[in-house]
Formats: sequence, structure tokens, C-alpha cells
Amino acid sequence: MSVLVFDSGIGGLTVLREARVLMPDRQFIYVADDAAFPYGDWEETALLDHMTELFGRLIKTWKPEIIVIACNTASTLAIERLREVYPDEMFVGTVPAIKPAAERTRSGLVSVLATPGTVRRQYTRDLISDWASKCEVTLVGSVKLAQLAETYMRGGFVDEEAVLAEILPCFQEKDGKRTDIIVLACTHYPFLVNRMRKMAPWPVDWIDTSEAIARRAASLIEARALPETIKDDVAVFTGGKPDGLTAKLLRGFGLAV
Ligand code: DGL
Repeated sequence: MSVLVFDSGIGGLTVLREARVLMPDRQFIYVADDAAFPYGDWEETALLDHMTELFGRLIKTWKPEIIVIACNTASTLAIERLREVYPDEMFVGTVPAIKPAAERTRSGLVSVLATPGTVRRQYTRDLISDWASKCEVTLVGSVKLAQLAETYMRGGFVDEEAVLAEILPCFQEKDGKRTDIIVLACTHYPFLVNRMRKMAPWPVDWIDTSEAIARRAASLIEARALPETIKDDVAVFTGGKPDGLTAKLLRGFGLAV
């Protein structure tokens, strides 16, 4: 019995590290669809079909106890379709934390930093009208941040000026008020949050949902029977064998490639 954690790249590792702490008695399969990265650029129908087909194969191969889609870009598009097509599977999705942001903001100015795909989604627009109608929500679709996070995680290099250029549109001022909350609506971004804090024009709260997603998954499997033996955690890359730096990173996360 295993927990399958899925992302387009290595961003879902932010969720995996939390999930591991909460579910130490489970085997984790980390799947990165790196052959199709970045999901942020995909056209919706093509990505939906691609994911539906890919999950068919993943379910057949790994027979997971639960599937955590640790990717906002994928969840906001495909979670409903996947639940319909694979009704016997338990899915936990990751969607922009607009409700908690609306509850916490004092200025009423909230920004959502995400991929262009997540920003375009009707799902995201519905979250705003359902939970944040009293706030002014700025949606910022970043073309580069997910890739900057991937580069940073593999080699430790961060182009801070490039990070600043991507986050700057999140910082809004209106009638003497300023943005006070930024939702990190892409699982890659928590890896860069210290740089974002450093480069930010003023301090804000950065909302990261990794722990909440992991908690949700843990609560769903809690009552179930424990597996008899726990196998080693593994990482699977759809593009084939990951390069040396990626393999090193994965080993650091305790994942066999
Ligand atoms: N990690 C993905 C997310 O949470 C985005 C990366 C991509 O563009 O594929 O949205």
C-alpha cells in the first residue's frame, strides 16, 4: 500500500516532505511528469487528455492507496475528470489557498502567484468568487518561477533579480493600503520563498499549502489498516532516468530512482 505523490516536476517534493512526517508508515511513490514539464504552458484539453491517460497507467502500475496531486496547475484542471474516470481511487488535490488568504488579510489586497495555467482556470476564478468576493484579488501568472525553482533545487543557483521581476506584480497599493498576503499557488514556489522574502518590496504573509495537503491525505488513510511491510520510497520520472543532479536531489529526499 502506497501513497502516490504527483507533480509535473520536482515541486511536489514540498508536499512529499510534509506527507512523510505525517505518514511514516507508508511507502511513497513520487511521480514527476518531467517529459511534459512545465504544465503551466499546456493547452487545457490536451493536458486533460494527457493526464487522464497517464493516470490510467500509473494506477495500473502502482495500485496506490491514495493519490496526492501535488500540483495546482494539474489539480485545478483535472481533479474532477480524474475522479470521474477513476471512481475507485482516492484523490487529494492542491488548489490555490484563496479561502484562508481571504480570512487572514487585513488590507483586503491579496495576490495569487501561480503558473499561467492556474491563473487561467475557471476553477481558480470560482474560488475567488466563492470565498474572496470582498477582497481585491490580483492573479499573477508567472512564466519563469517554476523553472527557477527547478534550477535552484538542482544546482543551488538563484537569479534573485529574476525572482523579483516575477513577484513584483503581486505587490499592489491602493487607497493607502498594500497587499499583505501572497498565496503560493504552485508547489514549486515554497522552495524559493526565502529569496522571495528577501527581494520583496515590503513584508507580506506567504501562504504555503504543503502541510495542509499532507494533513488532508493523512486524515483520509488514518483509519485504514496498516501495511504489513513498508517498501522503500521511490521516484519515477516520465522522461526516463533523471540526470545526476536530480538523482542527487532525490537521494537527499530519501527516494530511490
Ligand atoms: N508545480 C506545479 C503547480 O503546483 C507547476 C509547475 C508547472 O508549470 O508544471 O502548479
